[in-house]
Amino acid sequence: MVGASPPDQHTLDPADWPAFRAQAHRMLDDMLDYTEHIRRRPVWQPIPREVRTKFQSPLPQGPADLATVHATFLRDILPYSVGNAHPGFMGWVHGGGTPAGMLAEMLAAGLNANVGGRDQIPVEVERQVVRWMRDLFRFPQTASGLFVTGTSMANFIAVLVARTAAEGAQVRRQGVASSGRRLVAYTSFAAHGCIAQAMDLAGFGSNALRIIPVNERHQMDLSVLEERIVADRHDGFTPFFVAATAGTVDTGAIDDLAGAAALAKRHRMWFHVDGAYGALAMLAPDLAPRLHGIEQADSLAFDFNKWGQVPYDAGFVLVRDGALHYQTFASPAAYLRRETRGMAAGSPWPCDFGPDLSRGFRALKTWFTLQTYGAAGLGATISKTCALAHYLKQRVEGEPELELLAPVSLNIVCFRYRADLSHEMADEVNREIAADLQESGIAAPSTTIVNGRVAIRAAIVNHRTTADDLDRLIEATLAFGASYAKTCARAYA
Ligand SMILES: Cc1ncc(COP(=O)(O)O)c(C=O)c1O
Repeated sequence: MVGASPPDQHTLDPADWPAFRAQAHRMLDDMLDYTEHIRRRPVWQPIPREVRTKFQSPLPQGPADLATVHATFLRDILPYSVGNAHPGFMGWVHGGGTPAGMLAEMLAAGLNANVGGRDQIPVEVERQVVRWMRDLFRFPQTASGLFVTGTSMANFIAVLVARTAAEGAQVRRQGVASSGRRLVAYTSFAAHGCIAQAMDLAGFGSNALRIIPVNERHQMDLSVLEERIVADRHDGFTPFFVAATAGTVDTGAIDDLAGAAALAKRHRMWFHVDGAYGALAMLAPDLAPRLHGIEQADSLAFDFNKWGQVPYDAGFVLVRDGALHYQTFASPAAYLRRETRGMAAGSPWPCDFGPDLSRGFRALKTWFTLQTYGAAGLGATISKTCALAHYLKQRVEGEPELELLAPVSLNIVCFRYRADLSHEMADEVNREIAADLQESGIAAPSTTIVNGRVAIRAAIVNHRTTADDLDRLIEATLAFGASYAKTCARAYA
């Protein structure tokens, strides 16, 4: 073709690879420095207004030097994350991540694998993790599993598979109203809000979730559960789903899983376990017996990014009946046709087990973490966090100004500063203490309500946390609390 212009040579790859490589090494070194010396930093710090404003600038039109963009990251982003890599972070339920997981994430991004399907080893890596989890939780060979964003999504998938079990696969075309049955589900007062959200998203409505009270150990009261199931059946409802929790978000309580499994079986209901962080206690020989009954679950949801320390995000769902799981999501499409050879081989694919077609390679950072630290190594860090929680409990009990608000079942300690004030004022003081702790950069617990009282809640999830970090939490709580007590006394004088 005489006269045709050559194709454009422009790509997004570096024009100067050696310079890019040098910059890449600097960026890696910076993140390794950040992790190695994280103790020198505050856990968290408030974001200055001028920094926040910088993130309102318009879409850049021209290119910028990678080193300049990275300098902005170091200055304006890195110091202002929530700080869950820091050993003083104890809020909510956040894992700390690991350097090996970080490198694996970089490798996954380099490969840029789309793990929705097709015949590729990244899918085999995910299948291997599925098999490992199947064995760990003693699920049958026919069980299926899938990486998802987090336990909220995993619980939602479980509700959808249970919906197929109850209504048949035609529910996908005809909708939940078509059978005319009023399906209802059950979980405890201590369960995470995403179970109600899953019922909402699945089309049942959150009112179809019955909230069962808990006993003094914050476990679902199984006798009330059974009474409610019987009453609902009598009133024309169809009970179909029971969600027990292994490690409740507020206090770390583990429901009686074997009891709940037997009850669900008796009433021919789906038995789901939300083990968002607690399920991986299975890796710790001293804790695993506490999960007795989990092996009977029809589905199990958990996150590798919590106690498993895999960098965010790495949620996971395991389903006992893999065929039912497949029937819930698989959708034939010409552009996704399967073959027996070529890249379209290797069916079923991960996209047949969940709503995502395009999916990142979450399995790789999980696989690296399990390979690098071993199941025993991760189990030991999980046991350590529980031992530390026990230490914190003892410290709380040893301070007359502090009061323990809930039993310490695993790794979560709920306590409060005993302010000699009205109920409301004392709650307010404890909320203020938690905010002071966060803003001081010393420790970052969160708060919750336990038996109607505001609790300072320390969830020890991070493998870097030590007894010294807990001592600092106690000393700072006492100091902030004493200063509020003084202020309040002056106000009332
Ligand atoms: C018991 C429980 N279930 C569900 C969730 C939600 O998990 P995710 O944040 O991964 O969606 C959490 C989060 O902490 C949890 O503790």
